[in-house]
Amino acid sequence: IVQFLPRNSHEPPLVFHFFPVIGSTVTYGMDPPRFFKENRAKYGDCFTFILLGKKTTVYVGTQGNDFILNGKIRDVCAEEIYTVLTTPVFGKDVVYDCPNSKLMEQKKFMKIALTTDAFRSYVPIISDEVTNYFKKSADFKGKSGIVNLPPKMAQITIFTASHALQGKEIRDKFDETLADLYHDLDMGFSPINFSLHWAPLPWNNRRDHAQRTVAKIYMDTIKERRARGETGAQDMMMHLMNSEYKGGVKVPDHEIAHMMIALLMAGQHSSSSTSSWIMLRLASRPDIMQELYQEQIDNLGADLPPLQYEDLAKLPLNQAIVKETLRLHAPIHSIMRAVKQPMPVPGTKYVIPTDHVLLAAPGVSASDPQYFPNPDLWDPHRWEQGSANAPSIVRNEVEEDDEKIDYGYGLVSKGAGSPYLPFGAGRHRCIGEQFANVQLQTIVAVTVRHFQFSNVDGSDKVIGTDYASLFSRPLEPAPIRWERRDNAVAV
Ligand code: HEM
Repeated sequence: IVQFLPRNSHEPPLVFHFFPVIGSTVTYGMDPPRFFKENRAKYGDCFTFILLGKKTTVYVGTQGNDFILNGKIRDVCAEEIYTVLTTPVFGKDVVYDCPNSKLMEQKKFMKIALTTDAFRSYVPIISDEVTNYFKKSADFKGKSGIVNLPPKMAQITIFTASHALQGKEIRDKFDETLADLYHDLDMGFSPINFSLHWAPLPWNNRRDHAQRTVAKIYMDTIKERRARGETGAQDMMMHLMNSEYKGGVKVPDHEIAHMMIALLMAGQHSSSSTSSWIMLRLASRPDIMQELYQEQIDNLGADLPPLQYEDLAKLPLNQAIVKETLRLHAPIHSIMRAVKQPMPVPGTKYVIPTDHVLLAAPGVSASDPQYFPNPDLWDPHRWEQGSANAPSIVRNEVEEDDEKIDYGYGLVSKGAGSPYLPFGAGRHRCIGEQFANVQLQTIVAVTVRHFQFSNVDGSDKVIGTDYASLFSRPLEPAPIRWERRDNAVAV
């Protein structure tokens, strides 16, 4: 009944719902992109819905992305939303458990370690990890087989990321204790923990035990490295050990440990989901997987020498595979911010009050026919100049944004106006974008050297999306057929 009473005309339209507190929680949770699309058609780019009793205002489209992601620090706040979930998992005093100015410094420290030189050393590491994985895995023995791919891609992602970013010592611990501990940490990231993060439930107890144990493993490693007098190494941990906050305060060991957890967790979900989607898409289009193989032969040589960082730039289709998959399957479908003071929406009569949460969904503009012809078609070739499905605005407007801004962790593209923002925009923009690209492109390039994939029934179908966890990912089981290439390393 309340919904039919005259509303404050300065608030965006409210999505119709039957039950007061539940509101649209169920329809949103089942398929957020469809929920955004349908309600955009009914109410326009800016509308409010009830999410677990909270008025949540969605603002989609390029203006909406800009309004929320580039919101001023006095207007919008991420930590107020995320800290209940992330602090028990990452630990104290990092990311959202500290003032935003401190996070900006922490992002600067982490970003400094992600240089071209570092990437150069990561490609052989990632490449070897992938090859060894396929050699050792019982699921890839013989000439061909069927495998449920997402759990395999999750392992490949964590092995490659931990080895590249945290060194061999930590990577080796994933074969022993760390894999199970990270699995327990992961349970802290389930959406139910937005409300029950504090509860003494079995999975929260395991999360807390895992957090303490993993942090101790990192802190012990830091102490050992100091005791050994190590200084020269270029990995992330060493960079953090040598970093100082403004005012000359060294980063304390517990913060380094917590940042290491945060980095691995932040990257793991997004990159593992993306690598699964890439492989599932390739299984649905074996012709494109073959093209990728041919691209390496044409551009790197028929003997396929060991992959180097510089090679990645010579493989445009390999790059486009990652880009196009992120366009359709960005793992973060909803980015939330608390509203700190009433925010007028430029060009409209709306003012967003402080009891609303703002929700940005950059995936909506990334699948908008206004920018991407045949938006639902997975077409990696659309990123080639002159392609029929090329983005309708000039390419570098989509890829780069002229306006750069420094939030304290180096110049970043503001992203305002770009319909393609899988890595976000503004002060909370991803610092892992380049690493993720290097990691994913290397995983794809090495995998196509070994295998040809197809769907088990030979069709071009693609499995649906699982929105039950915070990061969207393919529904499971997601089996594919693999066939070893004739010339691939026999195992
Ligand atoms: C932030 C996406 C990989 C570290 C973000 C944000 C997005 C995103 C959309 C913005 C969140 C917000 O505004 O609230 C992705 C995708 C990835 C990926 C799609 C892979 C395909 C990585 C990796 C790392 C990483 C590999 C670490 C090496 C971070 C960090 C933040 C972030 C530290 C900053 C959080 C903040 O400032 O609030 N990422 N990410 N990400 N990401 Fe990533």
